[in-house]
Amino acid sequence: MITADKKMVDLIHMNYVLIKVLNRFDISLGFGDKTIGEVCKEQKIDVRFFLEIINSFLDSDYFPKEHLQTFPVRLIIDYLSRTHQDYLGKSIPLIEDLINKIAKNCYENREHGYLLTKFFNEYKDELFRHIEREDKHVFPYARCTEEVFRGRADKECIRRVQDYSISTYLNEHDDIEEKLFDLKNIIIKYLPSPSQPELCYAILSELFNLEKDMNNHSRIEEKVLVPKVEAMEDEIRKKGLISDAEEHD
Ligand SMILES: [Fe+2]
Ligand SMILES: [Fe+2]
Repeated sequence: MITADKKMVDLIHMNYVLIKVLNRFDISLGFGDKTIGEVCKEQKIDVRFFLEIINSFLDSDYFPKEHLQTFPVRLIIDYLSRTHQDYLGKSIPLIEDLINKIAKNCYENREHGYLLTKFFNEYKDELFRHIEREDKHVFPYARCTEEVFRGRADKECIRRVQDYSISTYLNEHDDIEEKLFDLKNIIIKYLPSPSQPELCYAILSELFNLEKDMNNHSRIEEKVLVPKVEAMEDEIRKKGLISDAEEHD
């Protein structure tokens, strides 16, 4: 498990994909020999939260223990939303650009290029729908659960909490990485040898990194956000917080 006294540079050497994660915390390269704790303090980042994210990235079995006593839900959601923005604004446009180049230049048979583009577009639509649902419904619900839990919710939040449960999200949370795996296989396995293999290497490296990043993202949603919200839902029910709030309306 990574702790605050580890040097930031050693963390990156362990797994360079973490640079993307650091970016979401506005940490840029050039941190010399500073420890994680020192960098976080300088950047005013909650170091416990930073470590949760890093540890869950490095260890797929990592499961945080204290759901309620530690950081607010707002922090988790800010991080997850920032990751969504990264996907929509950076990773996907970069991959799309490469897909278009490959489809146009790599295969003699136009049909092959067409199939690749079609599959990618379907994946992109699915991903956008997945992200939109979380940004517009699930994350606002999680924020509201915290507001109700802290006794400062407005009517809108109370209604949201009454009408939904985080277990519904967990049950319906589909696997956005699966189709990414299929996309890699189309390029690696099913399409013929490309005339410009370097384009395929470039896109595969992006796809492998994105897949790893998305695995981690989904794990934070399911293993950090959901248990925390569930614990609050339990408390809200136990203490009758929703009906109390209603009476004061
Ligand atoms: Fe997400
Ligand atoms: Fe998700």
